[in-house]
Order: sequence, then structure tokens, then C-alpha cells
Amino acid sequence: MYASLKSIGSYVPEKIMTNKDFEKIVDTSDEWIVQRTGIKNRRIAAVEQTTSDMGALAADKAIQRAGIDKNDIDLVICATLSPDHLCMPSTACLISDKIGIRDVMAFDLSAACSGFVYMLSLAKAFIESGAKKNILLVGAEKISSLVDYSDRGTCILFGDGAGAAIISATDDKNRAILDVHASADGKYSDLLITPGCGSKYPCSTEMMNEGLQYIKMAGNEVFKVAVRTLTKDVVDILKTNDIEPEDIDLFIPHQANLRIIEAVRNKLKFPKEKTVFTVEKYGNTSAASIPMAINDAYEDGRLKSGDLMLLDTFGGGFTWASALVRFGGN
Ligand code: UT7
Repeated sequence: MYASLKSIGSYVPEKIMTNKDFEKIVDTSDEWIVQRTGIKNRRIAAVEQTTSDMGALAADKAIQRAGIDKNDIDLVICATLSPDHLCMPSTACLISDKIGIRDVMAFDLSAACSGFVYMLSLAKAFIESGAKKNILLVGAEKISSLVDYSDRGTCILFGDGAGAAIISATDDKNRAILDVHASADGKYSDLLITPGCGSKYPCSTEMMNEGLQYIKMAGNEVFKVAVRTLTKDVVDILKTNDIEPEDIDLFIPHQANLRIIEAVRNKLKFPKEKTVFTVEKYGNTSAASIPMAINDAYEDGRLKSGDLMLLDTFGGGFTWASALVRFGGN
């Protein structure tokens, strides 16, 4: 039995925040942001809209495209760094409720921007072991709730949104997730961190006054490790599976910074036409970034049944992950 990525869906909030909007709130310019990041716009969720609201909308689309009965889903996992609630209930439980499935195993996964590919690894194992048959994976983020809009080094980077996929059992190897590699190294934890609101710095007025509830990032250092790690991870997974770069139909990297994507793409000599770029319109949507990019390729008609996708991602922790996935949808 193999695990197949059978369908994809996404949701983006209506509100668009442009680089010009940032010029009004921090000392920055459209030119700087485009040159250093490639980002032009990002979507921002409405005040009352939660991560689980967006996740449920993306999930509904993925379920409908998979053509399965939602009651046949036997596991729901949500990867997010911006859960509706810090401790409980999990965002996966809330999404299950919102899409109307009951009595199902549901939990959240914490691996920052690598969350979606980490979930693929779990889904593959659950299905190949025979424990589950139809798994709903959701990467959803309301990162605007964690961003310090006075910190120009981080606020311009992030956006909100959600992506979802159904992973189902199949006996067709040509529609299967071939391999997933997921890893982490906690020695870099301080370089990309939301220090506050956890057990180390519990919520308090002092903690909030210091702004520890917001994302802090040593951007330039993260950048260098990201390029190195993303490149190595791709080389390793291709080599392990005896696959040449020419065999890949679509390279779908984490959408954090156009310069990072281009550095990796150039080192690996992947043609631009075979690479998916969404960073310009959505910014960095963390765990939602990869499924949103897969969804864009699907809706544009670039992703077809049986196509071999190479996914590659990197995020806080540090975590990183790559995957070789043959698209099992239609
Ligand atoms: O998704 C998880 C992984 N995250 C990432 O992969 C993000 C990785 N990092 C990056 O994308 C980039 O490092 C940034 C876009 C965050 C920053 O670009 P950079 O080329 O690494 O710039 P820098 O941090 O070295 O800063 C260069 C200058 C600094 O000014 P000084 O000290 O040279 O005077 C910054 O203060 O640019 C300044 N700067 C800005 N200027 C205008 C930083 N942010 C801005 C800004 N507008 N928004």
C-alpha cells in the first residue's frame, strides 16, 4: 500500500497588504522589499478570522476535489505556528468541527515552515502501515497575529492563508509519495523565535511590553543557513532515490524569499519554467506556503496527474524537509 496526495486546496483572505502600505508604517520602500525579498503583496486575515477558519475553507476544497466522503477521513493533522489557542484545543480539532467530522483522531504539528512536509512524512507512515486510509493535512497560518508591525526586518515578510491536502491509500506506485526527508537542529533555535507566551516567558504585562510575543528573526543568518540546507537537502533526496533533476516536473520550494529560491534553483540548475513561485503575491505563509504553492500550480494547470513534484522547505527550529511526490489527483 502506498500513500497518495490525492487532492489539494487553499484559501487566501481577501485583504491585500502591499509594499506601499508598509511604507506608511515603517522605514522601508517598495524597491527595497522587492529587491531583497521578491515580495509585492501578502494577504491579511480579517480581525475576527482565525487560523482554523482559513484551514477549514482550504480543507473543504481539498475534500471536494478528492471526491471522498468527509466521514471517511480517519486522521486530521494541522501544521501551524499561529494556532487559534496556544495550548488547547488544537487547531486540528477546531478544523474537524468546522468541516463537520466527528470522532476522528486530530492533532497539531509544530515544525514552523517545514510543517506541511513533516506532515507528509507522518501521513506516509500511517498509510503504509495500514493504520489509516484517508488523511486530511492542513497547513494554516494567521501570522499577522504574531508579527510586530514596527519591526521592518520581519513585518514585510509574512502573510496569512491556508492550504490542505487529502492523502489516501493507493496500490498505484505512480501516484504515490515516493520519499520524505525531515530533519531539525535545535542549536539554531534563537535565530527565528517567538520567545513569549510559553512556559519560559509566560504571559505577563512585562513580557508583552518587551514585545516577546512577536516573531524575532536574525534574517541574514537565517538566510545563509536556509540556502545551504535547502540545497543540500535536495541533492540528498535526489541521490538517495536515484532521480536526476531533469526527471522533476515541478520544483516547489518554501516561499520565504525569492533570492533564497533563486539561489537554490541556480545551484541545482532547475529551469525557471519548472519552478513554482508564489512569494511575490502571498509572502511567507509558513506552514501554508507549500500547499498553497501546490494549489496554485494545480489551478494554473501546471500540475497534472502523475507529475513528479520536488518539495523543499526550511523554517524555525531550525527544521527542514524535502519530499518527492507523484501527484495522485486528476
Ligand atoms: O521562513 C523561514 C525562513 N525565513 C527566511 O528564510 C527569511 C530569511 N531572511 C531573509 O529573507 C532576509 O535576510 C531579509 C529579507 C529578512 C533581510 O534581507 P538581508 O539582505 O539579509 O538584509 P539584512 O538583514 O542584512 O539588512 C541589511 C540592511 C540593514 O540596514 P543596515 O544595518 O545595513 O543599515 C537593515 O536594517 O537592510 C535594513 N533593512 C531594511 N531596510 C529597508 C531590514 N529590513 C528592511 C526593510 N526596509 N524592510
